[in-house]
Amino acid sequence: MATKVLQFSRVRSSAWRPLLRRHTSTAAPTPSEIPVLGTVYPADAYTNITPTIAAKLTRRLHAQDGHPIATLRGLIESHFPDYAHLSSLSPIVTPHQNFDSLSFPADHPGRAKTDSYYINKDYMLRTHTSAHEVDVFTSGSERWLLTADVYRRDEIDASHYPVFHQTEGAKIFQTDAASLEAVEEDSRRLERELAQSNIVIEDVPHLSSTNPAQSVHNPRHSEIAAKNLKLSLNSLMYTLFGGVAGATKEDPLRVRWIEAFFPFTSPSYEVEVFFRGKWLEILGCGVVAQPTLDRSNVVNKMGWAFGLGLERIAMVLYSIPDIRLFWSEDERFLSQFSQGKINTFKPYSKYPASYRDVSLWLPSDGLHDNDVYDLVRDVAGDLVEDVAIIDRFTHPKTERQSMTVRTNFRSMDRSLVKDEVNELQAQVQSRLKEQFRVEIR
Ligand code: DAH
Repeated sequence: MATKVLQFSRVRSSAWRPLLRRHTSTAAPTPSEIPVLGTVYPADAYTNITPTIAAKLTRRLHAQDGHPIATLRGLIESHFPDYAHLSSLSPIVTPHQNFDSLSFPADHPGRAKTDSYYINKDYMLRTHTSAHEVDVFTSGSERWLLTADVYRRDEIDASHYPVFHQTEGAKIFQTDAASLEAVEEDSRRLERELAQSNIVIEDVPHLSSTNPAQSVHNPRHSEIAAKNLKLSLNSLMYTLFGGVAGATKEDPLRVRWIEAFFPFTSPSYEVEVFFRGKWLEILGCGVVAQPTLDRSNVVNKMGWAFGLGLERIAMVLYSIPDIRLFWSEDERFLSQFSQGKINTFKPYSKYPASYRDVSLWLPSDGLHDNDVYDLVRDVAGDLVEDVAIIDRFTHPKTERQSMTVRTNFRSMDRSLVKDEVNELQAQVQSRLKEQFRVEIR
């Protein structure tokens, strides 16, 4: 069982794989214990959380006064004033919470070690705020918002970062005539408000053969829920984007609804917003799968839920060009913002980038791209602008596989010197050899 110790940040370099291993060729020992957020967990074959990722767990950008992510959270919360506003749930969850409680099938790819961060086979970092749906519904809350940091193994570039923030929202109600009438009355109010707003909505039918009501639901109730969901979110989109995108009659805010699929909703939708010439994917949502509510001991109720990513929205509202900037502790970034206010970010001088390539022979059992990305991130942190696999080939005779990895190094805050970049690249190469038994070509 897990035992309590010091905060992770104080023990990380001695208790865990050292961050900087210089000029060694012996393989790094697999740690037998992993301290995370003050608790020590036994490591096992699932363990893949890196110190770089673990260091993000205490940052809590969504709770940092004045930070764009915190302002955006506040804006969403003010739009739903009579909902419970939650923001302090631990990022450490069980695979049961993250997947099974939401009816994810046993073979869903999101469960793979290559896609998610595991502390060990029993604990992981939540990959979405939906991981808490059953807990919050179980607590009895009928209307709630939950904002939190979520973690996914992914590629590295200006719009992908392995940590980001989501706000989950949900509303459930009873299905007796009076309760349904109250939901319909709320929908009529929202419809009247939206009719006065400069917004154009491309809709899809609430239900279709490919996006059906759940068999346990009366389809009419499902329609009422879906309609209330759509109106509630159209209204939220107008609050967030109306002022900036649709200021004129000729240029209204455009929102489009798309049929979607999630294991934990039916019907399901995605919402996109047209912003500065592009459709932006903003959120996923739907009518809550009844098994989720059953697992929460909620009886005789149904409802809707949504989950929206905050960075993407903040990047367009504030004109923030690179997702790494949210993690900057540089005053030139932070001093530009104050709580509750959306303003245009003024870039400070961009320092030069320099790239390094390395070509590798992969081990015979292969190597996942995400393992390469995490390793580079773990060596160089936010000095990595992006990492790309720029070439792959298989040797025609030996069938050995090769790849070339290009890393673009750039600091947000200062010029990097050549020796420093060389040293980082040398560490990338030696860690690739030690950890993954690659051969440098
Ligand atoms: N959790 C989903 C994701 O991260 C988004 C989502 C979809 C949340 C549908 C919901 C929902 O609450 O009903 O991709």
